[in-house]
Order: sequence, then structure tokens, then C-alpha cells
Amino acid sequence: MFSFKLNGKTVQVSEVDPHTSVLSWLRQRGLTGSKEGCAEGECGACAVLLLRPDGEGSRLESVNGCLLSLPSLADQEVWTVEGLADSELHPAQVALLQGGSQCGYCTPGFVVSMAAEYYRQGRQDFDLEALSGNLCRCTGYRPIKDAAQSLGKPEADDVLAQRLESPAPALEALDYVPVGRHSYASLQTPPRFFRPTSLPELFEITSSHPQAKLVAGGTDWMVEVNQRFSRSPVQVAIDQVLELKSLTWTKEYVEIGAGLTLSEMERGLEGQVPLLHEWFPRFASRLIRNRATLGGNIATASPIGDSPPVLLALGADLLLSSATGEHTVPLAEFFTGYRQTLLQPGELIKAVRIPLPLAPMARFYKICKRPMDDISTVAAGLVMELDGDTVKSIRIGLGGVAPTPVRAYKTEAALLGKPWDLRTVRVAAEVARAEFSPIDDHRGSAAYRVAMLGKLLEKFYAQTSGVLA
Ligand SMILES: Cc1cc2nc3c(=O)[nH]c(=O)nc-3n(C[C@H](O)[C@H](O)[C@H](O)COP(=O)(O)OP(=O)(O)OC[C@H]3O[C@@H](n4cnc5c(N)ncnc54)[C@H](O)[C@@H]3O)c2cc1C
Ligand code: FES
Ligand code: FES
Repeated sequence: MFSFKLNGKTVQVSEVDPHTSVLSWLRQRGLTGSKEGCAEGECGACAVLLLRPDGEGSRLESVNGCLLSLPSLADQEVWTVEGLADSELHPAQVALLQGGSQCGYCTPGFVVSMAAEYYRQGRQDFDLEALSGNLCRCTGYRPIKDAAQSLGKPEADDVLAQRLESPAPALEALDYVPVGRHSYASLQTPPRFFRPTSLPELFEITSSHPQAKLVAGGTDWMVEVNQRFSRSPVQVAIDQVLELKSLTWTKEYVEIGAGLTLSEMERGLEGQVPLLHEWFPRFASRLIRNRATLGGNIATASPIGDSPPVLLALGADLLLSSATGEHTVPLAEFFTGYRQTLLQPGELIKAVRIPLPLAPMARFYKICKRPMDDISTVAAGLVMELDGDTVKSIRIGLGGVAPTPVRAYKTEAALLGKPWDLRTVRVAAEVARAEFSPIDDHRGSAAYRVAMLGKLLEKFYAQTSGVLA
């Protein structure tokens, strides 16, 4: 059994299949304000608010209820759109009523994401990024933006604002097996859900349950659960494992815990790795980044995952950890085939190390059908240092051009030691076009991807040599 606070009231759960999403559970309970538009994190109609630690106090984060499994809520405090209004509508609801809602299907999700931003500590203007994961199909975004930007500051007696002044609850380790008579899809026994809070606890669980499914933010795994009905007899949530959540600067590297969410990483780095700062807003939406982790993005080994091109360009290493010890591997050697990696059974990614000092010239390019909140067709990270006019060092990380994320070693060799001018770039672009043999798929043809390889290099040159200026 586990409990959590829903809209300020304690709820106990003992019979629910741990694969159940927060959204499904809420709707089965009659809390139908949260809507299901897609069940895969794309529309934001299911958004709910989670209370998360923030210094001495706490913060509210908007997350996709469809991608959060119910036991992840154990010990937590969550608010739905129903809990935002008491005897009066919430200011976000009042603002949206002024023309920002028509059919209303998306409105509860917008209200929730707007509320998260409304309560953000130190907010001056309304950051529209907060709404980047919420889709509306009929009103159009201008009236919604107007509503968001019309919001003032919370009143002194606002119950939620007052709640944020004290810490979020500490989350305990959890071992949950639902009770009662059920049939659990394809599983022979009731599914089990663990949530360890330290690495030794985690390794003890995985040594007794070698087939356990590790779940970090769940933004990949819960899509599998919802859309492909994937089930695992044992799920192990690693999002509260302390050792996976650190951010450390040394003289040689910055070490980023694999279990930090991308939003936590963005706040913790404070723009000190400019390439990552440029990259964050291009990754999904704020709703997804509030749950998705770097470890999850690397471990899925998707050829179109967005972190590997950036991290390859930064020359990152991975710190892998298991019950028997830890070791580092260069990210460039980690991917061994389509969706395959060097990870051994019982091993996980503990952290990512980015070597310091950072090279001064760095860019991330993501080519996709929509400029925001879309999956890459081709992605590239480029990091370079010049000595005078000569290329002293260069690393190019690519996604979408091979079965795994890759370094463009031949292209790099064509640039190294050469003058950074248009002639060199044209020769290297030719090398880049010949270096990989991408495939055709629904996102783009092989010919298009090949053409992009050369174009991205030319764009990098234009932006770093001042030609565009
Ligand atoms: C709407 C939407 C938009 C998206 N947009 C993007 C995008 O723009 N770019 C992009 O690259 N991806 C995108 N994704 C994919 C996804 O969000 C990312 O891959 C995310 O980083 C996965 O992290 P997670 O913590 O949620 O992984 P989870 O779903 O928790 O886990 C994914 C896999 O990694 C394993 N795993 C997790 N952590 C570790 C670890 N530390 N060590 C070893 N194995 C581990 C799990 O066992 C599982 O197999 C999107 C997904 C959705 C639903
Ligand atoms: S239902 Fe669309 S994001 Fe959750
Ligand atoms: S008001 Fe209809 S989808 Fe947004």
C-alpha cells in the first residue's frame, strides 16, 4: 500500500496495477478534468501539478499525467485542475475564460501549466516555454498567450503560494504489490513496483530481480505501456536514487547525474555549458523535460535521440555503475548497434562527465518538421577551437544518419589543422556527405539527410566566422 496527497487530501492505494497512469486512475475516480488527448506526452491535456523540493521551500511542476505511473506518486503531493479552484475559479481559469477557450478540451491542461508558471518563484514575466507541451486545436494560440501574459502575482492568502514556502515531503523507499484478485494482462503474478532511494538498495533489488525494468522519468517507458501494452513483472523507479541526482564541478570535468531531469539539469547548470543551454529548449516540451532524464535518453540508444549528438561533440564520458563497481567509457564507444549499448545486465548509467575546459565555439542543430517539440530528422552538435585561423580541435556528433548516434571522424579529420575558411568547409562538406549512408523513413529521405550533413557544416561556418553578420 502507498499513500499520497491529492488536492490536499490523503489518498491510500492498495489494489491498483502499478502500470496504471495517474491520468487513467484520476478519470476512473471521476476526476475527469484531466483529459486524454494522446496518452503519449504530445498534447498536455492530462497535465497535473507535482510539488517538488526547491531549496528551503518547494516548487510546482507541471507533468504529463499520462506518462506518470500511479505508484510514482507515493508520499508526494499532487494537484489536478479540480483542486486549483475552491469557491472561486483560479486566476489561470479566469484568464482563459476571456477568449482563450473554445471546445475546452485542452483548457484544463493549459490551466495546470499556466498555474505552474504563475507560482514560479521570482517570476517577472510569464515564460511562454511553460506552455510548450500544451496543444490547442481550435482556439489558436494568440488568445491563450494573452491570457497567460495577463496573469498577475498570487495573492498573499493564496493557499498554494503558502504551501510553497515549506518543503515538499521526503520520499521514502517503496515496495508495492497490489492486493486483491485481478488479472494482470500477460503477467502470471501481480506486478511489483520498487522505488529505492540509494544505489545499494537498487542493486539489492536488481540482483534478486535481474529482469526488472528500470524506469527513470518514464517518458519513453510509459509510452510503451500505454500504446504497445508493454508490461513488466517488476518495475524499479530510479528517480529518487540520491546518487543519480548530483551535479558536481571539478577542474577536469562537470559530472551530471543520470537521474536528474532535464529541467533540474538546466537549473543546476545555470547556463555554464552554453551548448546544453542552447539545446534544452529544442528537446520536447517543458512538461516532458520536467520528467525526462539524461540517463534515459542515452540508455534508449535511439539513433535520433537528441542528447548523444551534443554529448559526443562535448567529448563526454559515461560513468557506469553496478553492484561490482564503477567504470567510465567514452560515449563514442557506448553504442554498439541499433538500440544496443555496452550496458551489462545489472549495470546502469550513473552520470555523464563533460571534460573541461569547454571549447569556445559550439552549436547544436536539430532539423525536424516543426521547429519546437518534435523528434529530429537529423541532429548535429559541433564543438571547435581555433588556433588563429587554423582548426585546432573539432568534434562533430550526429543523430539520424546511422543506426546509432555517431562521431563524424572522417569529416573532423578533413578539418583538423586546416584554415577555417570556405574552401576547407566545402571540401569537408563533401567528406561529410560521403561518410554516412542514412536510410529513408517517414521523417526524411536518405538523400535529404545526406544533403543536410553538408549544409549544417556550412551553417556552422557561416555562424562562427562572422559571414552571416
Ligand atoms: C512527447 C515526447 C517528446 C519527446 N521529445 C524528445 C526529443 O525532442 N528528443 C529526444 O531525444 N527524445 C524525446 N523524447 C523521448 C524521451 O523523452 C527521452 O528519451 C527521455 O530522455 C527518456 O528519459 P526518461 O528518464 O523518461 O526514460 P525512461 O522512459 O524512464 O527510460 C527509458 C529507457 O532507459 C532506461 N534507463 C533509464 N535511465 C537509465 C539509467 N540511468 N541507466 C540505464 N538505463 C536507464 C530504462 O530502463 C528504459 O529502458 C520524447 C518523448 C515524448 C513522449
Ligand atoms: S494525454 Fe496527451 S500528453 Fe497526456
Ligand atoms: S479550445 Fe478546443 S482544443 Fe483548445
